[in-house]
Amino acid sequence: MSSDSRPPLVITIDGPAASGKSSTAKMVAAALGVRHVDSGMIYRTVTAVRLRRGDAPEEWTEQSVLDAAPRATVAPGATSFEPRLDGADCEAEIRGEAVTATVSLVAKMPRVRAWVNALVRATAADYEIVADGRDMGTAVFPDARLKVWLVALPEERARRRILQRTGQASDVAALAAETAELEARDQKDREQTQPAADAVWIDTTGITQAEQVERIVRLAADRR
Ligand code: CDP
Repeated sequence: MSSDSRPPLVITIDGPAASGKSSTAKMVAAALGVRHVDSGMIYRTVTAVRLRRGDAPEEWTEQSVLDAAPRATVAPGATSFEPRLDGADCEAEIRGEAVTATVSLVAKMPRVRAWVNALVRATAADYEIVADGRDMGTAVFPDARLKVWLVALPEERARRRILQRTGQASDVAALAAETAELEARDQKDREQTQPAADAVWIDTTGITQAEQVERIVRLAADRR
């Protein structure tokens, strides 16, 4: 909690797919001694819950996704909120291809967005947080102390995502496929992916992750 009378610290980090939001937010939160909340992880967990019913996503109604949503929860850990599905760890499942291919469909549903937003806001009621996603600085925390908008060229984002997933450098074909997947998802998510008017833009294409983190921590320190 903050030591003065100002509201507890909320920092938002938004941007397009694989722009480094989550890993950056995690490191910024650790540096500041607050907790990281990954809103994309919540959309992914809700999607994983609904996928378990086994019917085709084209058949999903918004109500059926909302009925499934309460099985997705977040548990406060030492430095972050962890995704839980029926109370259990679900990290591998929510990062899988089936969820990645379907999550944008779920994220388009307005009442699902409202449900996720309420869950994210609830974390900030009890903890100081760094929240990352696409609309954290606009729809969810319009009064955040610091808002960051992270961008990077699509190919660079694809290269990083492959490295993160496989631990290896990408070959030309894999890089092209990953870039196409990211651009397609950006397109599907474009309505809810908006920079706040007062966000600080950081283009991470040519800088290291340590540099991005340092810049954000410095900005946060100025506003704390
Ligand atoms: O890490 P990456 O950018 O690939 O995706 P993510 O942050 O895990 O988010 C997964 C999906 O959740 C996105 O493709 C969006 O469809 C949705 N999402 C959203 O609509 N709004 C947010 N605040 C966060 C994620």
